[in-house]
Amino acid sequence: MKNADVALRRDEAISRGVGMQTQIYVARAENSEVWDIEGNRYIDFAAGIAVVNTGHRHPRVIAAVKAQLDAFTHTCHQVLPYENYISLAERLNDLVPGDFPKKTIFVTTGAEAVENAVKIARIATGRSAVIAFGGAFHGRTFMGMSLTGKVEPYKKGFGAMMPDVYHVPFPQEVHNVTTADAVAGLTKLFKADLDPARVAAIIFEPVQGEGGFYPAPLDLVKAIRKICDDYGILMIVDEVQTGFARTGTMFAMESYGVAPDLTTMAKGLGGGFPIAAVTGRASVMDAANPGGLGGTYGGNPIGIAAAHAVLDVIEDEQLCARANELGSRLKQKLEAIRAVTPEISDIRGPGFMVAVEFANPATHEPDAGFTNRVRLEAQKRGLILLTCGVYGNVVRFLAPITIPDAVFSEAMGIVEEAVAAARLG
Ligand SMILES: Cc1ncc(COP(=O)(O)O)c(C=O)c1O
Repeated sequence: MKNADVALRRDEAISRGVGMQTQIYVARAENSEVWDIEGNRYIDFAAGIAVVNTGHRHPRVIAAVKAQLDAFTHTCHQVLPYENYISLAERLNDLVPGDFPKKTIFVTTGAEAVENAVKIARIATGRSAVIAFGGAFHGRTFMGMSLTGKVEPYKKGFGAMMPDVYHVPFPQEVHNVTTADAVAGLTKLFKADLDPARVAAIIFEPVQGEGGFYPAPLDLVKAIRKICDDYGILMIVDEVQTGFARTGTMFAMESYGVAPDLTTMAKGLGGGFPIAAVTGRASVMDAANPGGLGGTYGGNPIGIAAAHAVLDVIEDEQLCARANELGSRLKQKLEAIRAVTPEISDIRGPGFMVAVEFANPATHEPDAGFTNRVRLEAQKRGLILLTCGVYGNVVRFLAPITIPDAVFSEAMGIVEEAVAAARLG
């Protein structure tokens, strides 16, 4: 089988609406490497979009899933519950930032976690409005899409968004948008358009993921916390992309010393198996009536078993420390490349959630074309990179945190070559 042949069949069989970054059809994957159906080998710096932080097919995750497969695969927790669902909730209640009693629900995807966090915030406050940020990404369901702060391709043509959703600017230092601008946006919103007493929640990502890897500044996070406290608004932090050691701590919010009321998570939690969760203040989480939350597959036993193993691996292999070490080596490499690459306008990100941004050195305009060339030149040399950003001019690095040193070094060499090749046009 050839990639090109399957690509043709894909065009016939699959909706155009499902976008794609490559036509590399995977045959197998191991830790930080994948092999396609033609036998080509790639280093994977996408990790299924920040999912396999613990590597493809981590042996302990696979062993836990195999043991679960041999026991039972689905009973629906609302019908015939199982103990490891409870113990996983207990672990998340302990791990998620916030020095207060917490409770958890399990769902299946990041978007579903966001939907449920908003439902919980609404029923707990008796209010309906929700504030999100420009450039945010919260998923493709109706509420996720409405909260998302990027029109193309996520919202355009999909009709009316959910009512009572408002957006304010998110700081982007490199584009001269500051925390003061974001706070002024909130103040103006409360003056011009929205009574803060009607707001159920403010939702944000500690580091905007799809939006371009812009970290939330500490003063913004503190300002949001204060506004929430002043007006009885709940703070929802979306850790779907930032969670599970990616930013050098189990959750990105740990480094801010500010506790959200509700935390959404997915991706890295399952190490490659679908599971998502909302964890938050017990009193808030208990606001919904029995049956108001959940779903047939929420907290499916396979995802639960995988997630326990993922948490064990992060702890036993000290992946938070490893994320910091790899991230600082990556940043050093990018700084060295910047010395000979005027197109690099910014290098940023905590832990191993690092991005490089490209702009035209003459006009300082974001350069999506250059960015895409870097991605394609890397791919030609066997390295899978992802782009992101409202302007499409950011390369984000999301390698498994378990990547061996030799593979990491090889990837650094390819990044250097790919940027140099992109400069040649
Ligand atoms: C911050 C954030 N929230 C929500 C989502 C949606 O998650 P899912 O694709 O699992 O629905 C994503 C996915 O990229 C995300 O990065």
